[in-house]
Amino acid sequence: MLAVRFDRFGPPDVLEIGVAPDPRPGPGQVRVRVEAAGVSPVDLALRAGTSPGSKHLALPHIPGVDAAGVVDEVGPGVVDVAAGDEVFGTVALAALGGATAEYTILDFWGRKPARMPWHEAGGAGSGVETATRALDLLDVRDGMTLLVHGAAGGVGSIVVQLAAARGARVLGAARVESHAFLESLGARPVSPGDVAQSVDRALDVAGAGALDDLIEITGSADHVVTLADFEGPAKGVRLSMGRPAGQADGRHGLAQVAALVERGLFRVPVREVFPPHEAAAAHALAARSPRQGKVIIDATRIPY
Ligand SMILES: NC(=O)c1ccc[n+]([C@@H]2O[C@H](COP(=O)([O-])OP(=O)(O)OC[C@H]3O[C@@H](n4cnc5c(N)ncnc54)[C@H](OP(=O)(O)O)[C@@H]3O)[C@@H](O)[C@H]2O)c1
Repeated sequence: MLAVRFDRFGPPDVLEIGVAPDPRPGPGQVRVRVEAAGVSPVDLALRAGTSPGSKHLALPHIPGVDAAGVVDEVGPGVVDVAAGDEVFGTVALAALGGATAEYTILDFWGRKPARMPWHEAGGAGSGVETATRALDLLDVRDGMTLLVHGAAGGVGSIVVQLAAARGARVLGAARVESHAFLESLGARPVSPGDVAQSVDRALDVAGAGALDDLIEITGSADHVVTLADFEGPAKGVRLSMGRPAGQADGRHGLAQVAALVERGLFRVPVREVFPPHEAAAAHALAARSPRQGKVIIDATRIPY
């Protein structure tokens, strides 16, 4: 098959189209013909060689942890989907990538609703899992006020909608250029460090040194979770890393999102879509502020 890949670490232009072996699904996995794949911060860090995971990669490596596509082969033990089903989800965690290719292996998935565009579905998997896991940890419920720091990015733009669907009032902290975008997602925008309202829970998605403020605003480190600040535990703040750390995961969120999409209550904001041969431009854009939603690679666009 053809794939976007890199054979050395470096800037976005190390990405190129190349031939890669066809992947095969193991137990509990499915293989999909990819329609669209999301670009995530972990893809950028793995490519640059700055992620702790970079040293575990066998090069050449195919980036991309999220994909949507049509199931074409199921591994042993898979009973909920069959060849021909349309799904969206996340690649095998141990693979640290593989999505920006003609075929990829998914570790977990949800059924793609007919009204969910492929480009949105391709960018949903890990953001939905992560957002659901974090909201569960914070026990966000009807009537609470949640402050999301880093609210406009790929994960934040999903968090704010899922929190609102739980009945929470959502304050989205982001730079002023992203305020109208956050309003379009149903969040009340605020500037970081400028929150004058009572807040029950806070989620740090940005990992930008905001934890002391968030503890003060909520009144307790127990009311704060971070997804990206490794100093969290030293401050008494839970750092949610999901499966690698053996914590409960948020995979059940994919079915919930599918149900919300059917009712017109959820969308994955797509910042821009690139064909595979422009993957370097996709990675470059994903690193640039103001980040609003997901950058997507359309795996069906020819020339590959
Ligand atoms: N723990 C987990 O399980 C898990 C899972 C997925 C992702 N993550 C991590 O979570 C983080 C966010 O992921 P993502 O996909 O949402 O990334 P993203 O799409 O790149 O968005 C990052 C967001 O954080 C904001 N931000 C960055 N620095 C900031 C600062 N100093 N003050 C305020 N906002 C700031 C950005 O705003 P601007 O663009 O306006 O600067 C942007 O809205 C990444 O570090 C990622 O690695 C963790």
